Amino acid sequence: MNHKHFLQFRDFGADEFEYLFARTRVIKDRFKRYEKHHPLVDRTLVMIFEKASTRTRLSFEAGMQQLGGAAIYLNTRDSQLGRGEPVEDAAQVISRMCDIVMIRTFEQEIIERFAAHSRVPVINGLTNEYHPCQILADIFTFIEHRGPIAGRTVTWIGDSNNVCNTWLQAAELLDFNVHVSTPPGYEVEPERAGLFGTDHFEEFSDPIEACRGADLVTTDVWTSMGFEAENDERRKAFADWCVDADMMRVARPDALFMHCLPAHRGEEVTAEVIDGPQSVVWDEAENRLHAQKALMEYLLLGRLER
Ligand code: CP
Ligand code: NVA
Repeated sequence: MNHKHFLQFRDFGADEFEYLFARTRVIKDRFKRYEKHHPLVDRTLVMIFEKASTRTRLSFEAGMQQLGGAAIYLNTRDSQLGRGEPVEDAAQVISRMCDIVMIRTFEQEIIERFAAHSRVPVINGLTNEYHPCQILADIFTFIEHRGPIAGRTVTWIGDSNNVCNTWLQAAELLDFNVHVSTPPGYEVEPERAGLFGTDHFEEFSDPIEACRGADLVTTDVWTSMGFEAENDERRKAFADWCVDADMMRVARPDALFMHCLPAHRGEEVTAEVIDGPQSVVWDEAENRLHAQKALMEYLLLGRLER
Protein backbone atom coordinates (compact mmCIF):
# COMPACT_ATOMS: atom_id res chain seq x y z
CA MET A 1 0.00 0.00 0.00
CA ASN A 2 1.92 2.85 -1.40
CA HIS A 3 0.68 5.99 0.31
CA LYS A 4 2.53 8.93 1.63
CA HIS A 5 2.13 9.27 5.40
CA PHE A 6 3.21 11.96 7.87
CA LEU A 7 4.34 9.86 10.83
CA GLN A 8 7.43 11.86 11.72
CA PHE A 9 8.92 15.11 10.48
CA ARG A 10 11.56 13.50 8.33
CA ASP A 11 8.92 11.68 6.27
CA PHE A 12 8.94 14.80 4.09
CA GLY A 13 11.85 16.53 2.38
CA ALA A 14 12.82 20.22 2.55
CA ASP A 15 11.11 20.99 -0.78
CA GLU A 16 7.85 19.50 0.47
CA PHE A 17 7.99 21.68 3.58
CA GLU A 18 8.70 24.70 1.41
CA TYR A 19 5.55 23.90 -0.56
CA LEU A 20 3.51 23.31 2.62
CA PHE A 21 4.57 26.60 4.24
CA ALA A 22 3.68 28.52 1.05
CA ARG A 23 0.39 26.64 0.75
CA THR A 24 -0.47 27.32 4.40
CA ARG A 25 -0.05 31.04 3.67
CA VAL A 26 -2.48 30.81 0.72
CA ILE A 27 -5.04 28.77 2.67
CA LYS A 28 -4.85 31.04 5.72
CA ASP A 29 -5.21 34.23 3.63
CA ARG A 30 -8.25 32.83 1.82
CA PHE A 31 -9.83 31.82 5.11
CA LYS A 32 -9.30 35.33 6.49
CA ARG A 33 -11.04 36.76 3.41
CA TYR A 34 -13.98 34.36 3.97
CA GLU A 35 -13.32 32.76 0.56
CA LYS A 36 -14.70 29.27 0.18
CA HIS A 37 -11.99 26.65 -0.42
CA HIS A 38 -13.49 23.17 -0.80
CA PRO A 39 -10.93 20.86 -2.46
CA LEU A 40 -11.90 17.91 -0.23
CA VAL A 41 -15.64 17.64 -0.88
CA ASP A 42 -16.86 14.09 -0.15
CA ARG A 43 -13.59 13.18 1.61
CA THR A 44 -13.68 11.85 5.15
CA LEU A 45 -11.05 12.16 7.87
CA VAL A 46 -11.11 9.68 10.76
CA MET A 47 -9.43 10.93 13.93
CA ILE A 48 -8.39 8.35 16.51
CA PHE A 49 -7.52 9.64 19.98
CA GLU A 50 -5.90 7.46 22.62
CA LYS A 51 -4.92 10.57 24.62
CA ALA A 52 -6.70 13.84 25.46
CA SER A 53 -6.69 16.83 23.12
CA THR A 54 -8.17 20.28 22.61
CA ARG A 55 -6.15 21.87 19.78
CA THR A 56 -5.45 18.78 17.69
CA ARG A 57 -9.03 17.58 17.65
CA LEU A 58 -10.47 21.00 17.00
CA SER A 59 -7.99 21.99 14.30
CA PHE A 60 -8.36 18.72 12.37
CA GLU A 61 -12.14 18.61 12.69
CA ALA A 62 -12.72 22.28 11.86
CA GLY A 63 -10.00 22.11 9.18
CA MET A 64 -11.60 19.20 7.37
CA GLN A 65 -14.98 20.95 7.42
CA GLN A 66 -13.41 24.14 6.09
CA LEU A 67 -11.97 22.12 3.17
CA GLY A 68 -15.44 20.80 2.33
CA GLY A 69 -15.00 17.32 3.85
CA ALA A 70 -16.19 15.55 6.97
CA ALA A 71 -14.39 14.39 10.13
CA ILE A 72 -15.25 11.50 12.45
CA TYR A 73 -13.90 11.26 16.00
CA LEU A 74 -13.03 7.91 17.58
CA ASN A 75 -11.42 7.30 20.95
CA THR A 76 -10.05 4.26 22.69
CA ARG A 77 -12.76 4.17 25.33
CA ASP A 78 -15.72 4.04 22.95
CA SER A 79 -14.22 1.90 20.17
CA GLN A 80 -12.99 -1.67 19.93
CA LEU A 81 -9.41 -0.35 20.05
CA GLY A 82 -9.81 -0.14 23.82
CA ARG A 83 -10.95 -3.76 23.97
CA GLY A 84 -7.90 -5.25 22.32
CA GLU A 85 -8.75 -5.29 18.60
CA PRO A 86 -5.36 -5.54 16.87
CA VAL A 87 -4.20 -2.26 15.41
CA GLU A 88 -3.56 -3.99 12.06
CA ASP A 89 -7.22 -5.09 11.87
CA ALA A 90 -8.44 -1.65 12.87
CA ALA A 91 -6.27 -0.12 10.14
CA GLN A 92 -7.69 -2.44 7.47
CA VAL A 93 -11.27 -1.62 8.42
CA ILE A 94 -11.00 2.09 9.17
CA SER A 95 -9.00 2.81 6.01
CA ARG A 96 -11.69 1.17 3.84
CA MET A 97 -14.26 3.63 5.16
CA CYS A 98 -12.44 6.94 4.89
CA ASP A 99 -9.87 8.86 2.86
CA ILE A 100 -7.35 9.93 5.49
CA VAL A 101 -6.61 9.08 9.13
CA MET A 102 -5.10 11.06 12.01
CA ILE A 103 -3.95 9.20 15.11
CA ARG A 104 -2.87 10.37 18.57
CA THR A 105 -1.43 7.44 20.50
CA PHE A 106 1.38 6.17 22.73
CA GLU A 107 4.40 4.44 21.14
CA GLN A 108 5.41 5.45 17.61
CA GLU A 109 5.43 1.77 16.76
CA ILE A 110 1.61 1.72 17.04
CA ILE A 111 1.12 4.37 14.38
CA GLU A 112 3.72 2.70 12.16
CA ARG A 113 1.86 -0.61 12.36
CA PHE A 114 -1.41 1.17 11.58
CA ALA A 115 0.13 2.94 8.56
CA ALA A 116 1.62 -0.30 7.25
CA HIS A 117 -1.91 -1.74 7.03
CA SER A 118 -3.73 1.40 5.91
CA ARG A 119 -5.11 2.01 2.41
CA VAL A 120 -5.06 5.76 3.00
CA PRO A 121 -2.58 8.37 4.27
CA VAL A 122 -1.98 8.45 8.03
CA ILE A 123 -1.01 11.57 10.01
CA ASN A 124 0.69 11.53 13.41
CA GLY A 125 -1.36 13.72 15.78
CA LEU A 126 1.19 13.06 18.59
CA THR A 127 2.95 9.98 19.86
CA ASN A 128 5.31 9.53 22.81
CA GLU A 129 8.19 10.16 20.40
CA TYR A 130 6.98 12.86 17.97
CA HIS A 131 4.51 15.68 17.30
CA PRO A 132 5.17 16.60 13.66
CA CYS A 133 1.95 18.64 13.07
CA GLN A 134 2.94 20.91 15.95
CA ILE A 135 6.33 21.73 14.47
CA LEU A 136 4.83 22.22 11.01
CA ALA A 137 2.61 24.94 12.52
CA ASP A 138 5.40 26.32 14.73
CA ILE A 139 7.84 26.79 11.86
CA PHE A 140 5.11 28.39 9.76
CA THR A 141 4.50 30.73 12.71
CA PHE A 142 8.20 31.56 12.95
CA ILE A 143 8.36 32.33 9.21
CA GLU A 144 5.21 34.44 9.46
CA HIS A 145 6.80 36.62 12.15
CA ARG A 146 10.50 36.56 11.33
CA GLY A 147 11.12 35.13 7.82
CA PRO A 148 13.13 32.03 6.86
CA ILE A 149 14.23 29.72 9.67
CA ALA A 150 17.41 28.40 7.99
CA GLY A 151 20.49 29.43 9.95
CA ARG A 152 18.47 30.57 12.98
CA THR A 153 18.80 29.29 16.55
CA VAL A 154 15.90 27.69 18.40
CA THR A 155 16.35 27.04 22.12
CA TRP A 156 14.49 24.19 23.76
CA ILE A 157 14.22 24.30 27.57
CA GLY A 158 12.97 21.39 29.66
CA ASP A 159 12.00 17.84 28.80
CA SER A 160 13.50 16.15 25.73
CA ASN A 161 10.03 14.95 24.75
CA ASN A 162 8.03 14.38 21.55
CA VAL A 163 7.95 18.09 20.68
CA CYS A 164 11.69 18.49 21.31
CA ASN A 165 12.51 15.42 19.19
CA THR A 166 10.50 16.87 16.33
CA TRP A 167 12.29 20.23 16.53
CA LEU A 168 15.57 18.30 16.28
CA GLN A 169 14.45 16.41 13.17
CA ALA A 170 13.23 19.66 11.63
CA ALA A 171 16.58 21.34 12.29
CA GLU A 172 18.39 18.68 10.28
CA LEU A 173 15.96 18.96 7.38
CA LEU A 174 15.58 22.73 7.27
CA ASP A 175 19.12 23.63 8.33
CA PHE A 176 18.72 25.57 11.56
CA ASN A 177 20.27 24.99 15.01
CA VAL A 178 18.69 23.82 18.24
CA HIS A 179 20.15 24.53 21.67
CA VAL A 180 18.76 22.09 24.22
CA SER A 181 18.92 22.35 27.99
CA THR A 182 17.37 19.57 30.07
CA PRO A 183 17.92 18.54 33.69
CA PRO A 184 20.44 15.73 34.20
CA GLY A 185 18.87 12.38 33.38
CA TYR A 186 16.41 13.87 30.86
CA GLU A 187 18.81 14.50 27.98
CA VAL A 188 18.03 14.00 24.27
CA GLU A 189 18.32 10.41 23.08
CA PRO A 190 19.43 10.89 19.45
CA GLU A 191 18.26 7.45 18.35
CA ARG A 192 14.80 7.88 19.87
CA ALA A 193 14.66 11.37 18.34
CA GLY A 194 15.34 9.80 14.94
CA LEU A 195 18.29 12.02 14.07
CA PHE A 196 20.69 11.47 11.19
CA GLY A 197 23.57 13.16 13.03
CA THR A 198 24.26 15.66 15.82
CA ASP A 199 25.43 18.62 13.70
CA HIS A 200 22.31 20.69 14.25
CA PHE A 201 21.99 20.55 18.00
CA GLU A 202 24.03 21.45 21.02
CA GLU A 203 23.33 20.56 24.64
CA PHE A 204 23.74 23.00 27.55
CA SER A 205 23.63 22.16 31.23
CA ASP A 206 22.76 25.80 32.05
CA PRO A 207 19.41 26.90 30.57
CA ILE A 208 20.51 30.56 30.55
CA GLU A 209 23.50 29.70 28.36
CA ALA A 210 21.20 27.75 26.03
CA CYS A 211 19.07 30.88 25.53
CA ARG A 212 21.96 33.21 24.71
CA GLY A 213 21.51 34.64 21.20
CA ALA A 214 18.39 32.55 20.43
CA ASP A 215 15.89 33.62 17.77
CA LEU A 216 13.20 31.53 19.41
CA VAL A 217 12.85 30.12 22.92
CA THR A 218 10.40 27.28 23.38
CA THR A 219 9.38 24.78 26.02
CA ASP A 220 6.65 22.32 26.94
CA VAL A 221 5.16 20.62 30.01
CA TRP A 222 7.52 18.83 32.40
CA THR A 223 5.33 15.71 32.31
CA SER A 224 3.83 14.54 29.02
CA MET A 225 0.64 12.52 28.66
CA GLY A 226 1.24 8.90 29.57
CA PHE A 227 4.03 9.74 32.06
CA GLU A 228 1.83 11.06 34.88
CA ALA A 229 3.29 8.59 37.41
CA GLU A 230 6.59 10.54 37.18
CA ASN A 231 4.95 13.87 38.00
CA ASP A 232 6.33 14.44 41.53
CA GLU A 233 9.84 13.36 40.63
CA ARG A 234 9.82 15.59 37.54
CA ARG A 235 8.54 18.64 39.45
CA LYS A 236 11.66 18.48 41.60
CA ALA A 237 14.09 17.72 38.77
CA PHE A 238 12.79 20.48 36.44
CA ALA A 239 12.45 23.31 39.00
CA ASP A 240 15.32 25.34 37.43
CA TRP A 241 14.06 24.80 33.87
CA CYS A 242 11.30 27.41 33.94
CA VAL A 243 11.50 29.89 31.03
CA ASP A 244 11.56 33.30 32.69
CA ALA A 245 12.44 36.92 31.93
CA ASP A 246 16.15 36.30 32.68
CA MET A 247 16.28 33.64 29.98
CA MET A 248 14.44 35.84 27.47
CA ARG A 249 16.80 38.74 28.28
CA VAL A 250 19.88 36.87 26.99
CA ALA A 251 18.10 35.75 23.81
CA ARG A 252 18.06 38.12 20.81
CA PRO A 253 16.03 41.27 21.49
CA ASP A 254 13.52 40.18 18.82
CA ALA A 255 13.37 36.55 20.03
CA LEU A 256 9.96 34.88 20.03
CA PHE A 257 8.56 32.59 22.70
CA MET A 258 6.52 29.49 21.75
CA HIS A 259 4.72 26.75 23.67
CA CYS A 260 2.62 24.05 22.02
CA LEU A 261 0.07 24.34 24.89
CA PRO A 262 -1.51 23.40 27.23
CA ALA A 263 0.84 25.34 29.54
CA HIS A 264 1.39 25.40 33.28
CA ARG A 265 2.26 28.94 34.32
CA GLY A 266 4.80 28.88 37.16
CA GLU A 267 6.19 25.49 36.10
CA GLU A 268 7.83 25.36 32.64
CA VAL A 269 7.19 29.07 31.93
CA THR A 270 6.36 32.18 33.96
CA ALA A 271 3.13 34.06 33.31
CA GLU A 272 5.26 37.11 32.50
CA VAL A 273 6.85 35.32 29.52
CA ILE A 274 3.90 33.37 28.11
CA ASP A 275 1.58 36.37 28.45
CA GLY A 276 4.29 38.86 27.45
CA PRO A 277 5.07 40.69 24.21
CA GLN A 278 7.50 38.08 22.81
CA SER A 279 5.00 35.23 23.08
CA VAL A 280 3.25 34.06 19.91
CA VAL A 281 1.44 31.09 21.48
CA TRP A 282 -2.02 32.06 20.20
CA ASP A 283 -0.79 32.44 16.60
CA GLU A 284 0.96 29.10 17.03
CA ALA A 285 -2.29 27.44 18.13
CA GLU A 286 -4.29 29.05 15.31
CA ASN A 287 -1.74 28.01 12.72
CA ARG A 288 -2.32 24.34 13.57
CA LEU A 289 -5.61 24.80 11.71
CA HIS A 290 -4.15 26.24 8.53
CA ALA A 291 -0.96 24.14 8.40
CA GLN A 292 -2.94 20.91 8.80
CA LYS A 293 -5.37 21.96 6.06
CA ALA A 294 -2.37 22.34 3.76
CA LEU A 295 -1.08 18.96 4.95
CA MET A 296 -4.36 17.08 4.35
CA GLU A 297 -4.81 18.72 0.96
CA TYR A 298 -1.25 17.74 0.00
CA LEU A 299 -1.58 14.12 1.16
CA LEU A 300 -4.86 13.70 -0.74
CA LEU A 301 -4.38 15.85 -3.86
CA GLY A 302 -0.64 16.54 -4.16
CA ARG A 303 0.71 19.97 -5.05
CA LEU A 304 -1.93 22.45 -6.18
CA GLU A 305 -1.32 25.57 -8.27
CA ARG A 306 -4.26 27.54 -6.93
N1 CP B 1 -0.56 21.28 21.26
C1 CP B 1 -1.46 20.27 21.21
O1 CP B 1 -1.30 19.28 20.47
O2 CP B 1 -2.58 20.46 21.98
P1 CP B 1 -3.71 19.41 22.33
O3 CP B 1 -3.12 18.38 23.24
O4 CP B 1 -4.79 20.24 22.98
O5 CP B 1 -4.20 18.77 21.05
N1 NVA C 1 4.56 16.83 25.29
C1 NVA C 1 3.14 16.99 25.52
C2 NVA C 1 2.51 17.72 24.37
C3 NVA C 1 1.03 17.95 24.49
C4 NVA C 1 0.46 18.64 23.31
C5 NVA C 1 2.51 15.62 25.72
O1 NVA C 1 2.89 14.69 25.00
O2 NVA C 1 1.66 15.49 26.58
